[in-house]
Amino acid sequence: MTLVLNTLESGDYSEQINALLSGTDSKVEIINTAGMRIAHCIGCNQCWLKTPGVCSIKDDYESIVKKLVKTRNLWIVSDTRFRFIDYRGKKVLDRIMPMLNMYLTFRNGWMRHELRYHALNVGLIYRGIGNQELLEEWCERTAANLGGHSLGVIALDKELNGATQQVEVPSEITQAKHVVIINGSPRAKKLSNTDKILQSFTKGLEEAGATYELYSLSNRSEWDSAREAFMTHNRIIIAMPLYVECVPGTLLEFLETLPTKREQPAQLSFMLHGGFEEGRQLRLGEKFLKSLPSQFGCFYGGCLVRGGSFMIRMFNEKQTKAVLLPYRGMGEFFIEKGSFLSPELKKFTSPEQIPWPFRMLIKVLFKLVLKKKFNNFAKEWGCTKPLNSKPYK
Ligand SMILES: Cc1cc2nc3c(=O)[nH]c(=O)nc-3n(C[C@H](O)[C@H](O)[C@H](O)COP(=O)(O)O)c2cc1C
Repeated sequence: MTLVLNTLESGDYSEQINALLSGTDSKVEIINTAGMRIAHCIGCNQCWLKTPGVCSIKDDYESIVKKLVKTRNLWIVSDTRFRFIDYRGKKVLDRIMPMLNMYLTFRNGWMRHELRYHALNVGLIYRGIGNQELLEEWCERTAANLGGHSLGVIALDKELNGATQQVEVPSEITQAKHVVIINGSPRAKKLSNTDKILQSFTKGLEEAGATYELYSLSNRSEWDSAREAFMTHNRIIIAMPLYVECVPGTLLEFLETLPTKREQPAQLSFMLHGGFEEGRQLRLGEKFLKSLPSQFGCFYGGCLVRGGSFMIRMFNEKQTKAVLLPYRGMGEFFIEKGSFLSPELKKFTSPEQIPWPFRMLIKVLFKLVLKKKFNNFAKEWGCTKPLNSKPYK
């Protein structure tokens, strides 16, 4: 079956979508998500570790997962913002985690999670201004994440395709010693790896004589203050986890609420981290982030990139300290150098790619040690089912 998730809020595009997919040999079902209750993924990990394959959020997305189990080809129809898909389009993919399980594997040399059911091919149809090249790469990567291939990326508004909104902003270095930090993780602050990373990073900031204020987007009551701080300060860092090959839908939604013009330009820098060790998993997200500051009248202050953050919140105190210590140094570095633009920061990123002998080693280690470790975590979480069970089959 071919499933189309149409996340557009206005306009009837069913005829156009059907025409675009007319060559498809399987049955096509279009679901319009506009009237459905679909929340953002909150990264609780219950669909991997507590109730394998079943999302803890009880809303209309469960009916979509039940369809995905019978689907080979998934098309997302989405509006665009910041030349990427908007938060409504991203949200339905962030919620796709129950289609994978916690166990790790390598596919085409990339570290990935095992498929819970079968491979899914992914395609994208977008309305508005999109960065075609970035969207194609993202679609390929997302499909590979789900074990399939890209079905293509199609612009509904051909004449808008390739247009840019880039504004030239000087790439100054700011000397301001007060930093506004926004944690873009949808996961509750006390459980968020980003928050733990920031706790270490801000110690470094303070050691270098800086002050900071921190807002967490997982708490909606902080959005107004975060927006106000974003508009009134000139040194801002947005820190976030990688979510389905790019930034979380929650962060995209927050960004949509920000004014795109400001009186004084500011420096906007990023800290991006992800579950997998390999730095190359994060480079597309970094590319997207690099294109953002000029769209808010800000100049780009670089992006600190590092993989391997998945286990931080499950580590004991000693392990956490060891993993987080380098971020403390980065806090000092940021104040001393003025940005994350230094080429030497490439070294901070974990290995760009895991060399194949290590991949083999990890595979063996996974079978012998890690799998058991994951199973034990799950037991501690009260899980009674195998982690690779298929609840909707
Ligand atoms: C919905 C979802 C999608 C994710 N997608 C990716 C991904 O594509 N690549 C990756 O390396 N990690 C991915 N991760 C892992 C997170 O980036 C990682 O666990 C991070 O440490 C979470 O930080 P937080 O606790 O602050 O949210 C994903 C996690 C979730 C919940």
